Amino acid sequence: MTEYKEKFEKMRIAGKLASRTLDMLTDYIKAGICTNKIDELAFEFIKDNGGYSAPQYYRGFSKSVCTSLNHVVCHGIPSDRILEDGDIVNVDVTAIVNEYYGDTSRMFIIGNSSIKSKNLIDATYNSMMNAIKILKPGVKLGDIGNEIQTYVEKKGYSVVRDFCGHGISNIFHEPPNILHYGKKDTGLEVFPGMTFTIEPMINAGKYDVKILNDGWTAVTKDKTLSAQFEHTVGITENGYEIFTESAKGYNKPPY
Ligand code: MF3
Ligand code: CO
Ligand code: CO
Repeated sequence: MTEYKEKFEKMRIAGKLASRTLDMLTDYIKAGICTNKIDELAFEFIKDNGGYSAPQYYRGFSKSVCTSLNHVVCHGIPSDRILEDGDIVNVDVTAIVNEYYGDTSRMFIIGNSSIKSKNLIDATYNSMMNAIKILKPGVKLGDIGNEIQTYVEKKGYSVVRDFCGHGISNIFHEPPNILHYGKKDTGLEVFPGMTFTIEPMINAGKYDVKILNDGWTAVTKDKTLSAQFEHTVGITENGYEIFTESAKGYNKPPY
């Protein structure tokens, strides 16, 4: 059963470029930089390393990364907005290399943030990692969602329902949907060779979101903070592989 090994090798290469892009950006994501500059740096880095930025060609998004600040849940569009002390921001990078996709995002804290933001970010990261750590053949999609939901709800946070993880390979978003909430022992069983993202969006308040007039930016309806992390993973014979791990150990702030 090694027919997916070639696919995994391609996922590894794309995943590594996406995570190296975030590693590179880390030095720049500081107070005073605007999100357009982050976008530009990511675009150049991915191009210089033999890849393409997937969002550029995706349904008219046209920028290279998503930059989601504070109460923005996801799909924030880079702009001339300057990062300020106390902001939290998610940067989501998707690189295409040799037709395969690597999709990953991390949170960044600008300057001094409140303990409230820090706790939300920690819980969001932990919920993603808890879900990844249970992965092996036979685990069900409901188990993944349940792991995330029970962990964050215990802390009084909520799981966004309107966006989910997704299958990914030589297609950006493919079945199945990976919900970040759910019931144990329900849904599809994962199997060796399967590749998908886990990317929980966790809100400090209620889970409801709305989309702004730009057609992309998703924000929390109650204007509370939202955090997200994302990894692209693959299921192996007896566990999992993370394709988008940081080579620099930049897992969660402080970096
Ligand atoms: N990277 C996002 C995801 O995790 C998708 C972004 S699509 C875009 O699936 F067009 F908004 F960039
Ligand atoms: Co994704
Ligand atoms: Co993404």
